Amino acid sequence: MAVIVLVGTQWGDEGKGKITDILAEESDYVVRYQGGNNAGHTVCVGESTFKLHLIPSGILYDSCCSVIANGVVLDPAVILQEMETLRKQGIVVNPSKLKISSIANVILPVHRKLDSNQESKRHHEKIGTTGKGIGPAYMHKVARTGIRVQDLLKKSVLKKKLLKQNWGEVFSEEEYDLDQVVDEYHGYGKELEPYVVDSSLFVNDAIDAGKSVIMEGAQGTLLDVDHGTYPYVTSSNPISGAACVGAGIGPHKIEKVIGVTKAYLTRVGEGPFTTELDDEFGEFLRERGGEFGTTTGRPRRCGWLDLVVLKYAIRVNGITEICLTKLDVLDGLDDIKVCTHYKTDDGELLDEFPLDLEVYSSCEPVYKTLPGWKEDISQMTDFSELPEAAKSYVEYIAAETGVQIKMVSVGTRRRQTIHLITR
Ligand code: GDP
Ligand code: IMO
Ligand code: MG
Repeated sequence: MAVIVLVGTQWGDEGKGKITDILAEESDYVVRYQGGNNAGHTVCVGESTFKLHLIPSGILYDSCCSVIANGVVLDPAVILQEMETLRKQGIVVNPSKLKISSIANVILPVHRKLDSNQESKRHHEKIGTTGKGIGPAYMHKVARTGIRVQDLLKKSVLKKKLLKQNWGEVFSEEEYDLDQVVDEYHGYGKELEPYVVDSSLFVNDAIDAGKSVIMEGAQGTLLDVDHGTYPYVTSSNPISGAACVGAGIGPHKIEKVIGVTKAYLTRVGEGPFTTELDDEFGEFLRERGGEFGTTTGRPRRCGWLDLVVLKYAIRVNGITEICLTKLDVLDGLDDIKVCTHYKTDDGELLDEFPLDLEVYSSCEPVYKTLPGWKEDISQMTDFSELPEAAKSYVEYIAAETGVQIKMVSVGTRRRQTIHLITR
């Protein structure tokens, strides 16, 4: 039995896709347990770049089965499009390689419309959502008026449930025709039917058969609807515990929790961000790191690594090991800052992440400065090759957090990965 949960320890875009892809080579299953096509996981293989939004990053291997479990909100048109794009890129996508939960909730046009309506009403307090209808789809799920994948398969059920959603409150009459919506979404259901399974049963059977399974988190810990910087969060729980709910497995089945951590920090969308560099250096990190959203193309806000955030993520996820990504982006700097504490308005030093957003927003970062390195590390494949300052940076993070760093990523490609175990 080997179930690994892989989570982002920051505000998303930590490089989860690349790390999942590396681990998927040795895995039998990769499962997505939450979120939807707000996610954008980029995986570079050879000359090809794959941008995955809903389909787990394991799809790139023929030996790996990808599962979209019940906790995901699924936009049927988007997944069909993503399947098509992958096929055009030479990837085999068929019902033996991809499974979709029959009880995952479906994203509908009403959810996208509500998403944009709600954002425009927020005026100065926008969340900066991806506009994919994620929040409203989870809203209907929790309100028990959602449509699930299996409902798409029966026209009469679909129509009855759609009527209960009162689209008339969101769209004008000319904007939609219910029967047309029923036909369209039933059509998607028919196309997806060969992929639809009881995903909890499917995943548990795999675990019981001794298969190795990766639970691929989307978004990141600070975007978690409970544990993140609420209300500037997504509407699901990206943290590791949610893998049990979102895939229907017992907690005792989880063996390891891998935290994927970028060597610096980014955030896309609104909300406070203590170590943000709203200056030329932030711009430099954005350009060097290619920090533009995979899903929306928006420039990501950039800043220094924040150990208060990382330690918090380690706690709420129970992280057992870290994969540190994008270390190469820090090449050539004179020195590197790491936030170790926060200073509140009244001068108090905090080493725990404050849950009151007002307090968090007013905190100033307290930095430790570490030496940088001049070498290009992007072709280094062994920890011993790294410049001393790069080694010290990695070892410092491991020592401060008390968690081993198992992998250091120094580029987008599979081979640009250093496997190691820090003390
Ligand atoms: P995810 O959402 O966590 O999967 O991350 P994204 O794919 O949205 O963003 C990470 C970006 O960084 C992608 O464009 C990756 O190709 C790229 N990337 C991943 N690891 C590395 C690395 O070690 N170095 C560099 N330079 N780029 C990386
Ligand atoms: P991956 O999996 C980074 C952010 C949005 C916005 C907030 C709410 O690629 O790491 P939503 O559309 O979910 O209601 O938007 O969450 N967000 C992400 N930021 N990476 C992601 O996914 C994200 N998914 C959502 O920018 O601030
Ligand atoms: Mg991303």
